[in-house]
Amino acid sequence: MKLLHIDSSILGGFSASRQLSIAIVERYRQKHPDLEVTSLDLAAEPLPHLDGESLSFLGKELTADAASNPVLVAGAKALADFKAADILVLGVPMYNFGIPSQLKAWIDRIAIAGQTFRYGANGVEGLAGGKTVVIAGARGGIYSEGTPQAVFEHQVTYIKAVLGFLGVTDIKVIEAEGLATNGGNDRPRILAEAESAIAAL
Ligand SMILES: Cc1cc2nc3c(=O)[nH]c(=O)nc-3n(C[C@H](O)[C@H](O)[C@H](O)COP(=O)(O)O)c2cc1C
Repeated sequence: MKLLHIDSSILGGFSASRQLSIAIVERYRQKHPDLEVTSLDLAAEPLPHLDGESLSFLGKELTADAASNPVLVAGAKALADFKAADILVLGVPMYNFGIPSQLKAWIDRIAIAGQTFRYGANGVEGLAGGKTVVIAGARGGIYSEGTPQAVFEHQVTYIKAVLGFLGVTDIKVIEAEGLATNGGNDRPRILAEAESAIAAL
């Protein structure tokens, strides 16, 4: 069983999403001792923004010339790792109401017509189903459904929409929200609650 672990927080050791995503990976290691884990740290090794050259090779076999281009190779590896994963653990911080641009750059390398979705006779068909995705979300404010700020929530909603478009139906969310409210004093309790939810996965 293959697990792909992706982090995108720029906050290093203070990152809540990293703390939670690591705990989720450990939880799956307990459940599947033979787990094969591949890690990708998009803050340490960012994938460049998609550009015209990368677009022309998206999802295609790399030519000999292209295979010496590290950006194209990294993009192809991102796609291959995503397709091969049985479980995807995604650290997803909220930055400016959305996801980190580093994580968006990864999505631009894996959402590819003919590879992870296709336009068929009956509309869009996701080709990346059969995976379990666990999102480790973290945000300073509170954006849950029914709150006044819910309309600004373009973080987990967005990730779930993209992965759903690609055919993923099994998406679990562990969300630590309100980390900055009450002067940050609630942070330990909020993270402890998220860790309990992870233990119950
Ligand atoms: C650049 C930046 C932008 C942020 N924007 C928001 C925001 O729009 N809404 C919010 O609730 N919190 C925001 N925060 C707070 C983060 O969501 C919070 O620190 C969370 O823990 C980030 O996850 P991380 O700790 O894994 O990086 C922002 C933090 C940073 C550094």
